Amino acid sequence: MATYVVSGSASGIGASTRSTLEAAGHVVIGIDLHDAEVVADLSTVEGRARAVSGSLDFCHRTLDGLVTAAGVGPPVPGALVASVDYFGSRSLLEGLRPALAASRHAQVVQVGSNSTTITPDLPDDLIEAFLAGDESRAIELIAEVPEPFDSIIAYGGAKLAITRWCRRAAVSPEWIGSGISLNVIAPGAVQTPLLDGGREHGVVGPLMESLPIPTGGPTNPDLIAEWIVFMLSPAARFACGSVVFVDGGSDALIRPDAWPDGFQARD
Ligand code: NAI
Repeated sequence: MATYVVSGSASGIGASTRSTLEAAGHVVIGIDLHDAEVVADLSTVEGRARAVSGSLDFCHRTLDGLVTAAGVGPPVPGALVASVDYFGSRSLLEGLRPALAASRHAQVVQVGSNSTTITPDLPDDLIEAFLAGDESRAIELIAEVPEPFDSIIAYGGAKLAITRWCRRAAVSPEWIGSGISLNVIAPGAVQTPLLDGGREHGVVGPLMESLPIPTGGPTNPDLIAEWIVFMLSPAARFACGSVVFVDGGSDALIRPDAWPDGFQARD
């Protein structure tokens, strides 16, 4: 029996991950705006602190794993997307890292998105502001983009930046050097309230509908949860900083030759 924190545990992918883990006999500490062990708003500095301290109290400062699934997406205003999807996730990753290290064998899955590769023209300065941890600069840059494209840019940018943050952290002494494997799943369209919110919008909806999905359409959150639970299992321990696309083929269809990206050593 292992103990996991799952953010976004009240709905969609987080809720499915929660029930899959519980069905296997594990203990889940959920973080969400409602219906969770730790009720906290990850869009605010205070809420993030409450989420971390509440989780640490529940797990007695030792955790076997973490799944950061809380998120909002287009057409939610871009500033809120940035605060939840990047800064909310990063605060959990950083704040819960010592508890993960305490177990010596922890595994972490960040829920990213194929929006990282299929959103055109994500601005470099926005990604840099995210990675620098500069929330007000990121929000300032997003505010320059007209609605609802601010939301689309914020979403792709936040997911790209958190994925890059995870890849950098994963290989460091603080993470894999402390026995914590950190990987990212990048789903495509998944049938959840987040997807419905986009589809119902007059501008975002048609854009989402125009995204080709070679397998035939969105998948369901239970299927993504199965992947996440595999990524938390012993069989996945050799993965470190991996980004696993499970997107029905959209990324491969749109950018078939963008792999490999070419050799680019770290600065
Ligand atoms: P969902 O809307 O079903 O669930 C998201 C959960 O996050 C909700 O329970 C919500 O209350 C919680 N949440 C939102 N804002 C919060 C805040 N400020 N503080 C705490 N909790 C908050 O959405 P879904 O689709 O399950 O999304 C889960 C993750 O999967 C998100 O990170 C999303 O970006 C990602 N994703 C979803 C895709 C999709 O097509 N549904 C595709 C790719 C990635």
